[in-house]
Amino acid sequence: MFDEIINRKDTDCVKYDALNNYFGYDDLQPLWVADMDFKTPDVVNDAIIKRAQHGIYGYAKASTKTFNLVKQWMKKRHNWEIETSWITFINGVVPAYSAALEAFSNEGDEIIVQTPVYFPLFNSVKANKRKLITNPLKEKDGYYTMDLEDLKSKITPKTKIMVLCSPHNPVGRVWDKEELEALANICLENNIMIISDEIHADLVFKKFTSIASISEKISNITLTLNSAGKTFNVAGLNCAYAISQNQEILKTFEKEVKKREIHSINVFGYIALEAAYEWGETWLEELLVYLKNNITFTKDYLKKSNSKITFREPEATYLLWLNFKNYSISHDKVKQKLLEESKVALNDGKAFGADGKGFFRLNCALPQENLSKALSRIVTFF
Ligand SMILES: Cc1ncc(COP(=O)(O)O)c(C=O)c1O
Repeated sequence: MFDEIINRKDTDCVKYDALNNYFGYDDLQPLWVADMDFKTPDVVNDAIIKRAQHGIYGYAKASTKTFNLVKQWMKKRHNWEIETSWITFINGVVPAYSAALEAFSNEGDEIIVQTPVYFPLFNSVKANKRKLITNPLKEKDGYYTMDLEDLKSKITPKTKIMVLCSPHNPVGRVWDKEELEALANICLENNIMIISDEIHADLVFKKFTSIASISEKISNITLTLNSAGKTFNVAGLNCAYAISQNQEILKTFEKEVKKREIHSINVFGYIALEAAYEWGETWLEELLVYLKNNITFTKDYLKKSNSKITFREPEATYLLWLNFKNYSISHDKVKQKLLEESKVALNDGKAFGADGKGFFRLNCALPQENLSKALSRIVTFF
């Protein structure tokens, strides 16, 4: 099923149809934007088609069933018991994040972000006129950990929010419960709120812990953001949700969402989320096997080609954080070679923060035959 090669060109998708805008070339094999070249499960497609046959697409709302399915999903997949009153829907994790920054801090307040990280998590801090404080992750042999001593040293009375990317894009870590607990204790001691972006939580190869599920105390200072977008390849349907046990946090967040008028969700977004959470689990299990296989395939391919490109197998996501530092050429030269010689579009590591220098992010969620073609073009020139 995941081996099927589907032409995505001319479907108005960013990954294929916006190559020229972002890279200046049309003829690249795209391995960048974090969506997958796999069809969403039939159960989701069928539900969308059935709804489309109704023919009327007025304003949509979440039903009791939608809330229940999110609750069941959290319990089943992440052993986290949540209640209906803790959930609110919104048209994307990034819009939710931006709204949360404004809801829980003022201009000039300090927001801590762990780099290298998915760039909207820091761009949005600046766009909302908050002060960005970076708490770079520590790297050893491609394995990243949190630097909690550095974190403590950066806290001031103006620090309002700690941003967590959990699992972490692009370094692929699934944070252990102990790491999360240590981080949360620092936040609790210093009266800092946690915003946890957990959009990759289902795409994991080891046990994932949602930070808010650890204890009631931690849950009380946390706003969790999530969506079925990455898991089921329905990111373009813009249906996300925020969770907080703390009703004051949730109400303050909802007020900001209303102010920004971003609470209205595409009717197909709800349909897709419901079908995915109700019927998509078997597909997800098969997807995880395929992704893991593609990750191993990439590792073996680079090894057997004696390539100097290295990466640590991620604990989550299909995003490979490729290290090109063994080459004695500049970051910009690597980028130029990837684009002009290998003809592949990877995300530039520097976009994830200054510590992304020397790295490029490869999305391996594509049929293995096409992954193999991309790797062949990369190793030919590296
Ligand atoms: C960590 C992370 N958060 C959020 C998003 C995007 O979320 P949404 O499309 O719901 O705004 C992405 C997409 O790549 C991501 O990697």
